[in-house]
Amino acid sequence: MRILFIGDVVGSPGRKMVKEYTMKLKQQYKPTITVINGENAASGKGITEKIYKGFLDAGAQIVTLGNHSWDNREIFEFIDQAKALIRPANYPAGVPGKGYTLFKYNQIEIAVINLMGRTFLPAIDCPFQKVDEILEELNGRTPFIFVDFHAEATSEKQAMGWYLDGRVSAVVGTHTHVQTADERILPQGTAYLTDVGMTGPYDGILGVEKEAVLHRFLTSLPVRFNVAEGREQLSAVVIDLNPKTGQATSIKRILINEDHPFYA
Ligand SMILES: [Fe+2]
Ligand SMILES: [Fe+2]
Repeated sequence: MRILFIGDVVGSPGRKMVKEYTMKLKQQYKPTITVINGENAASGKGITEKIYKGFLDAGAQIVTLGNHSWDNREIFEFIDQAKALIRPANYPAGVPGKGYTLFKYNQIEIAVINLMGRTFLPAIDCPFQKVDEILEELNGRTPFIFVDFHAEATSEKQAMGWYLDGRVSAVVGTHTHVQTADERILPQGTAYLTDVGMTGPYDGILGVEKEAVLHRFLTSLPVRFNVAEGREQLSAVVIDLNPKTGQATSIKRILINEDHPFYA
């Protein structure tokens, strides 16, 4: 049992990398399930139906979101029909879409949960209480549970990792767009990585044109952020699970860019 997770896809450079490498990664790693975080997939802001379907065509089974879920207004028209699309589960009750889903593979079910942190992000419902509710709803239905924790603060991400150790298969962070090197398996068998990193421009600042970001830092004036052009990168993680217990047995980071070439 193996999970491939590709981090925040940013704009057309990110989508290009997904198209180019998802199948290659799938051939190499043969994952049971491939999950993509698409919160920045449409010009850095949200996702469209066409892009969502493009991710499924590229080989993903589930697409997750984050604080940018609602930035492209088209989301409200298709999220309730998009079976394989999830947004953070701890948005208040009544918000469109769903926060977790079950992917069926042969006789096996894999639960994928999307949660969002509240430190330096909108104050939505408590992700810790919400994940408890979800695990109760799942009621031991599957030992294979993957959590995309979309959060800013490393401390909140580590807290979630420890909170869920032994109760889910993996907690992997998204949102900060820079891959961290702290992958590990926690003592009770939960794979953990603070942030998987971003899939998109390699030469911008978190995916945005560096000139605009610099202008804002240098002047404190409001600026329009566009997705950077030029070289690209892909950030992902591969997690192996014990086929009986769902506990993680290995976690491996993947980074593909000109300085870290992909070797099949
Ligand atoms: Fe993001
Ligand atoms: Fe985000």
